[in-house]
Amino acid sequence: MNGRRREDYTAANREAWDASAPLHGQGAAWEALLAAAAQPGFSVLDEHLTGIVGGLGLDGGSAVQICCNNARELLSLASLGLRPALGIDISAGFLDQGRKLAEAAGLSPRLVASDVYSLPQDLGRHDLALITIGALGWMPELAAFFRVVAGLIAPGGALVVYETHPVLEMFDPAGVDPHAPATSYFERRPFEVPELITYDGTDHGPGKTGYWFVHTLGDVVTACAATGLRVERLTEYPHTIREPEYDIYAGREAQVPMSFSLVARMPEGVD
Ligand SMILES: C[S@@+](CC[C@H](N)C(=O)[O-])C[C@H]1O[C@@H](n2cnc3c(N)ncnc32)[C@H](O)[C@@H]1O
Repeated sequence: MNGRRREDYTAANREAWDASAPLHGQGAAWEALLAAAAQPGFSVLDEHLTGIVGGLGLDGGSAVQICCNNARELLSLASLGLRPALGIDISAGFLDQGRKLAEAAGLSPRLVASDVYSLPQDLGRHDLALITIGALGWMPELAAFFRVVAGLIAPGGALVVYETHPVLEMFDPAGVDPHAPATSYFERRPFEVPELITYDGTDHGPGKTGYWFVHTLGDVVTACAATGLRVERLTEYPHTIREPEYDIYAGREAQVPMSFSLVARMPEGVD
């Protein structure tokens, strides 16, 4: 792992996310989110994720989100008939915001601040495990990550991953020629992320340096399947779920894949 231990990377990433958290918990966008969370049927999930989760037949089941950030997506699952039971994130600062959103929504998920690689033992097993955009890239390696995730899923339960496509990592939207590949798809050294982390495409200045890893689609599917989860569906999409600067790669004649979803099931009868 480039001479550093997994824990070194996740500790750095914790600092990077905690340093960025205050920016997300204030201002007009935060106030709008807080007000929206208090409305019946609150959901920030897009039509694709809504369709995938809604089609799983998990009505009334419990849900865990790994890397839940401020829990807005976890809380949104209530609109699909699931019980947002557990959110896990390494950043205590974001989970504090999640508690405020949960209170506004009248929901009470357990929100656990922990590195996903070293979770406490008593987190139960759930009918749905959700992983969404911008989670996998913070993971220094995937085999142990997916083993932990699989351990949170009840027999018959499902894993849904809805993520940015790794092919996009080859391109630099701020590069001289943003449409020419700038990095190998197989690059294993992490990208350093020195700026405060936001999603609006604006530079908010320096933060604590975090580390972003590229995992190929093959790495993701193989790590998932190796846990015993049965992969049911892998779908690649032309639409973007990334920051606005990546919009230049959407709607093109020669379209690169921009996002993907993966659905896998824990077989019945597995302890
Ligand atoms: C971009 S967010 C993704 C969540 C969600 N899709 C969103 O848009 O808010 C990535 C989250 O992963 C969390 N994270 C990063 N590394 C982690 C780790 N090792 N264990 C648990 N959470 C981690 C960060 O704190 C951050 O909240």
